[in-house]
Amino acid sequence: MTSKPKLVVSTGAGISAESGIKTFRDADGLWENYPVMDVASADGFRRNPALIHSFYNQRRRQLADVRPNRAHEILRELEERFDVYVITQNVDDLHERAGSSKVLHLHGELAKVRALDDPDLTFKIEPGVETTPETRIDGHAVRPHIVFFQEAVPMFEPATELAAQADVFVIVGTSLVVYPAAGLLHYVRRGVPVYYIDPNPSPVPEGVTVIRAKATEGMAELARLLAERF
Ligand code: APR
Repeated sequence: MTSKPKLVVSTGAGISAESGIKTFRDADGLWENYPVMDVASADGFRRNPALIHSFYNQRRRQLADVRPNRAHEILRELEERFDVYVITQNVDDLHERAGSSKVLHLHGELAKVRALDDPDLTFKIEPGVETTPETRIDGHAVRPHIVFFQEAVPMFEPATELAAQADVFVIVGTSLVVYPAAGLLHYVRRGVPVYYIDPNPSPVPEGVTVIRAKATEGMAELARLLAERF
């Protein structure tokens, strides 16, 4: 049984846009309506933890109202022909709900909080459940299990190893402005095909195949291109 080609896919907010989740930097994006350093940074959390808890409570609540879109589903369907690894900057759970089996969250997960006194201790939180600085779970004070700006990205190293093993590398729906996530592309071996699906793509190196389309259309086109090539 020959092993399936390894398809590594790096996704950003754009893949969840057609599910109704706002991106960050498009018109009317999240950072247009919230001061990012107040609601998503380490300094902001030290300054006003209650504000950050309520910001993530609100974003978590939305998870109950959205569902995976066709792009998430096509990504799952590609698992029939490829060994698919999803590396996402997104904190929603739409890849998991679509059935993708290997999902690595670079920037954390809305559906989890973690103990302030033990970063490895996380707790699952349902969309309607709210947390505050006074919340205690098993006696632990908790915080959103989100990588804030000014914090390290602990999952980046395993992500670079996946990118370095890719037989095909795909970028979907990210503006490629936030590092280190945006740098994953540079860990892909020379000669490995790279595709970038985005209706308003950011500049990428020569040789990357840009599919200028929304995720649902772009993923359908990608599936066709991969069927011809593999
Ligand atoms: N389909 C595909 N891509 C889309 C769609 C769509 N329907 N709509 C918008 N996009 C693209 C935009 O053109 C843009 O390139 O999605 C990208 C969204 O970019 P950002 O809003 O910057 O989101 P992202 O790149 O995921 O942000 C990275 O920034 O604030 C931090 O931690 C946060 O993970 C986030 C990180």
